Amino acid sequence: MDWGLQNRLSRIFKPATGRTVMLAVDHGYFMGPTTGLKNLRETISPLAPYADSLMLTRGGLRTSVDPAVDVPIVLRVSGGTSIVGPTLADEGVTVSFEDVIRLNVTAVALSIFVGTEHERQTLLSLTDLVDEGEAYGIPVLAVTAVGKELAKRDARYLGLACRIAAELGAHIVKTYYCEDFEKVVENCPVPVVIAGGPKLDSELDALRLAYDAVSRGAAGVDMGRNIFQSDHPVAMIQAVRNIVHEGATPEAAHAEFLELKEKTDDA
Ligand code: R5P
Repeated sequence: MDWGLQNRLSRIFKPATGRTVMLAVDHGYFMGPTTGLKNLRETISPLAPYADSLMLTRGGLRTSVDPAVDVPIVLRVSGGTSIVGPTLADEGVTVSFEDVIRLNVTAVALSIFVGTEHERQTLLSLTDLVDEGEAYGIPVLAVTAVGKELAKRDARYLGLACRIAAELGAHIVKTYYCEDFEKVVENCPVPVVIAGGPKLDSELDALRLAYDAVSRGAAGVDMGRNIFQSDHPVAMIQAVRNIVHEGATPEAAHAEFLELKEKTDDA
């Protein structure tokens, strides 16, 4: 692996732990003004100091992130569909590689839709992106997207999709946590991070999800709604960090969350 690509990966996966807490705030590319992201700048600013990377679109980056911010950017470069359209799977590449380089990003992210009628186009978009990423030393994160079919989130399907992404050259795979998650990780030769998915009932549930994922081999989280839709997002991201980087139990991290939410003014 080339030095530049390795260096960028080590900006995302902290060398001290080999893990990462990525903050996903790219949802607007197909969901529009999602709860918690109506004002992207207001959401991102207090959370960025606690994130190992920000995953977002180029529009979000240019409009809502201070260029002086010292946090690696993972740029969402796929899209072209919406939550009100006929299918979420019909994505294409939305950003030229010239603009990727101009934006000085640390990695690029693209969704693949394995098992859909758009499987081939999204997988070939991934391979084109890997070719460009390898040429310029920029890692590619593949998201094993399920669109509106959340029931697809089982180890058999996610294991298949993660392995295909890695075989096609993705340097990082983002998927969902599931029962038998360790099998997904064991069969994937590149680091796996998990999405949080829709907001869970409580912060403790989300912390349990993060704990279970890293305990079963995830290299971290790329979490969005379960952080920024919390009533106390700054306390929440710190509690997630405690699990991912310090090995805290969900209960200990939740106790920290309760303590921090009293001290911080982030409701
Ligand atoms: C979906 O593909 C988007 O990339 C989101 O960023 C992703 O689902 C992670 O966010 P959440 O934790 O809210 O699921």
